[in-house]
Amino acid sequence: MLDRLSNAPELPPEIARRRTFAIISHPDAGKTTLTEKFLLFGGAIQMAGQVRAKGEARRTRSDFMAMEKDRGISVSASAMSFDYRNFRYNLVDTPGHSDFSEDTYRTLTAVDAAIMVIDGAKGVESQTRKLFEVCRLRDLPILTFCNKMDRESRDTFDIVDEIQENLAIDVTPASWPIGRGREFVGCYDMLHDRLELMDRSDRNRVAESIKIAGLDDPKLAEHVPANLLEQLREELEMARELLPPFDRQAFLDGTLTPIWFGSAINSFGVKELMDGIGEFGPEPQVQSAQPRQISPDEKKVSGFVFKVQANMDPKHRDRVAFVRLASGHFERGMKLTHVRSKKPMAISNPVLFLAADRELAEEAWAGDIIGIPNHGQLRIGDTLTEGEALRVTGIPSFAPELLQNCRAGDPMKAKHLDKALMQFAEEGAAKVFKPMLGSGFIVGVVGQLQFEVLASRIEMEYGLPVRFEPSQFTSARWVSGPKDKVDRFVQANKGHIAQDNDGDVVFLTRLQWDIDRIERDHPELTLTATKEMM
Ligand code: G4P
Repeated sequence: MLDRLSNAPELPPEIARRRTFAIISHPDAGKTTLTEKFLLFGGAIQMAGQVRAKGEARRTRSDFMAMEKDRGISVSASAMSFDYRNFRYNLVDTPGHSDFSEDTYRTLTAVDAAIMVIDGAKGVESQTRKLFEVCRLRDLPILTFCNKMDRESRDTFDIVDEIQENLAIDVTPASWPIGRGREFVGCYDMLHDRLELMDRSDRNRVAESIKIAGLDDPKLAEHVPANLLEQLREELEMARELLPPFDRQAFLDGTLTPIWFGSAINSFGVKELMDGIGEFGPEPQVQSAQPRQISPDEKKVSGFVFKVQANMDPKHRDRVAFVRLASGHFERGMKLTHVRSKKPMAISNPVLFLAADRELAEEAWAGDIIGIPNHGQLRIGDTLTEGEALRVTGIPSFAPELLQNCRAGDPMKAKHLDKALMQFAEEGAAKVFKPMLGSGFIVGVVGQLQFEVLASRIEMEYGLPVRFEPSQFTSARWVSGPKDKVDRFVQANKGHIAQDNDGDVVFLTRLQWDIDRIERDHPELTLTATKEMM
């Protein structure tokens, strides 16, 4: 079945073979391990351990902060590409911690599907649920990987029930585990009638599949102990009766998730999962945009920035805009129009993220993620086209819910703080406000932990210790309206006015009452809690 390259014959083959996805999971469920095995099988890394060897120079792009190691969270998102069989996989890493929801939401706008990893002993955990909800908002198709089956795990029906009930999605088993814990021997591949046995002697080796002609095939008894075989037959009979069969359309609609059981650390079940994404897709999807949507098979190239990351390499103060290509065939050196500024940009040194190293991208297709080094022109939400004024929509911006003052630990270095904060504002890592009166900055974030991440990054990347302190303000509102009216409002409320990093006017306050009053007294002004991403 894998020879059938595409479920979408209308797409150019290079586009039809792209699979762009993210992994969502609760910390510790095995996302890093699974990523590593993907890269290993995809030939992107030579040995297991490279992704996890965080102290080395060649650690994964996704994990580059010391803090992340300490806290077990993934702070920065990045993209990795690799080939496996007929397919090109683009894995976009999602930051794991709940406090990074902004980044996570945006990352999920750049993918066509998600793999949900759950721990076989723990089932659906809080962070899994949150991320799942984000996927649901976008109707993303979800493939489920139930990990750590080599350990004591829960009853298979329990796990399936929990997903169905907790997440309100139908579950169809793509494989079925045989035995549990120490007795776990492998899985029955329900989609291809194959026996997949786990090789416990070598964690990076995958045993050959054994083709089985249904559950009555005598070959089964040669490989599976009698007691487990009996249990397998009973369970499979029940599963086929009680659980829905695989239905590609329901999967693509995001209402049915196929589940594979495996053990990432033992490389078990990983190839089946990769084959599943390849086989079922989805291929690059239509992108919503104004004034019209963008189809991946359009000849002209278009793409949008879903992430900006500064200082990826502390030796080079570069900024990389991560662009998801929405259509066309991109070639290095192309001139694209930066729609927001209407200016042409020659994309002469784009990079592809081939796991271990950044490489120059000579070409890329719809579905791919390329990195464009730039000096700050490219912002989150920006669209690039071959000239048409299209604007990709649906990239969320969040209202800053927590505000704090930020001061340089060393007053002599206050200028650097300015630069560092502007940089993070552009990355979308925080909202930064410069009050009209007084000195210092007010920083707005969505989750408390972001302050710590910022402080640690400013210290690491700029050698500048900073302090975050409580602010007298708790809410921020962007103010828009006719220029003379806004100017008059600013003059009359100087103590509450700040500018964001784009120079736009923001009203800061502690009282909802203030906001209500302004809305009542100044109908000509509009106050918004978020700023639309251009
Ligand atoms: P995360 O990125 O989702 O946070 O999880 P990660 O892959 O780091 O895995 C969390 C822990 O679970 C790691 O152990 C990892 O080795 C282990 N693990 C992953 N897959 C499996 C599996 O299939 N079976 C078993 N038994 N364990 C698995 P750790 O002790 O935290 O780290 P390490 O010392 O192994 O590096």
